[in-house]
Amino acid sequence: MAKQKILITGGRGFIGTNLMRRIRNRSPETELVVFDNGSMTVHGGAGEGTFIDEEGDVRDLAAVRRVVSGCTSIVHLAGQTRVVESIQDPELSFEVNARGTLNVLLAARDAGIRHVVLASTGGAMFGDGSNPIHEGMLPKPSSPYGASKLAMEAYAHAFAGSYGLHSAVLRFANVYGPYSGRKGSVIAHLFRQILAHEPITIYGDGSQARDFVFVDDLCDGIIQAMDAAASGIFHLGSGSPTSLTELLEKVGHVVGPDWPLEVRHAPWRVGEVRRTYTDISKAGEAFRYSPRTGLDAGLQATWRWFLDRER
Ligand SMILES: NC(=O)c1ccc[n+]([C@@H]2O[C@H](COP(=O)([O-])OP(=O)(O)OC[C@H]3O[C@@H](n4cnc5c(N)ncnc54)[C@H](O)[C@@H]3O)[C@@H](O)[C@H]2O)c1
Repeated sequence: MAKQKILITGGRGFIGTNLMRRIRNRSPETELVVFDNGSMTVHGGAGEGTFIDEEGDVRDLAAVRRVVSGCTSIVHLAGQTRVVESIQDPELSFEVNARGTLNVLLAARDAGIRHVVLASTGGAMFGDGSNPIHEGMLPKPSSPYGASKLAMEAYAHAFAGSYGLHSAVLRFANVYGPYSGRKGSVIAHLFRQILAHEPITIYGDGSQARDFVFVDDLCDGIIQAMDAAASGIFHLGSGSPTSLTELLEKVGHVVGPDWPLEVRHAPWRVGEVRRTYTDISKAGEAFRYSPRTGLDAGLQATWRWFLDRER
């Protein structure tokens, strides 16, 4: 079998850094190419081993074509990832997420690549509604970020129909883990506040619930979807909800008495999604996706990384 050469766009970010380490552990002979514009780089994350590091932007089709040439697979993670930023600048999220993905698909099609993996979103695709969320539900994005990811999904579907280029479109839940130091996500934010001895604000009664998935489990899902050349849309999460109150209790145990949590209460924020979690059975059936890291163990590993970074 020919040696694999995998292009990871956005490979210097949180999930990309973890994915590179995971692929290296599982198959050290695989050649890795990273294409990233450096806007959200994780420093010192790539670790040991070699990879080809290409600086560039997914909005630049010629640059994407150059980097895709010679690759056997693509995991497209590069993206404008912040909901609030997309509300402030909807054109940016369109250009990076919709246009950027179209560029990746065009380059893949013309380079003869038959399958790609694309990073989409679970939470931002649906507001408050019925749970668990699943692939059969009608997406109703309420932010330009969600809309740009939905446009991406539509192009992926169209490229399968029009050119035979198939995609595994993976809708991630709330991903947490090591190398998330720059992320605005709930758990990364909590650990940063604890380390800075800042008070933690609970909006509402703490019953708001999310689906937190540990990054190693998510990365295994990405690799399995790639290996199986899975085609279609799949939700990747933990499969169960955790309320903010439960999360804070677990975080309190993990950080221990040296890091006391100061919790303040404030009224509910307008538009805050109260509860969302994912049905992961389709991914389980298609490529044996099966997250195995419990929240306690995942929080331990994440906290250890945050503490080490401080030293
Ligand atoms: N982390 C999560 O909880 C989560 C949830 C749902 C979906 N996702 C999706 O997963 C993907 C990876 O997320 P992440 O958490 O690792 O984000 P991240 O911001 O840590 O990483 C994204 C990477 O893309 C790069 N990038 C941004 N714009 C680029 C551009 N125009 N051209 C080239 N590179 C560019 C950044 O420099 C960064 O290294 C994103 O597409 C995101 O929308 C993540």
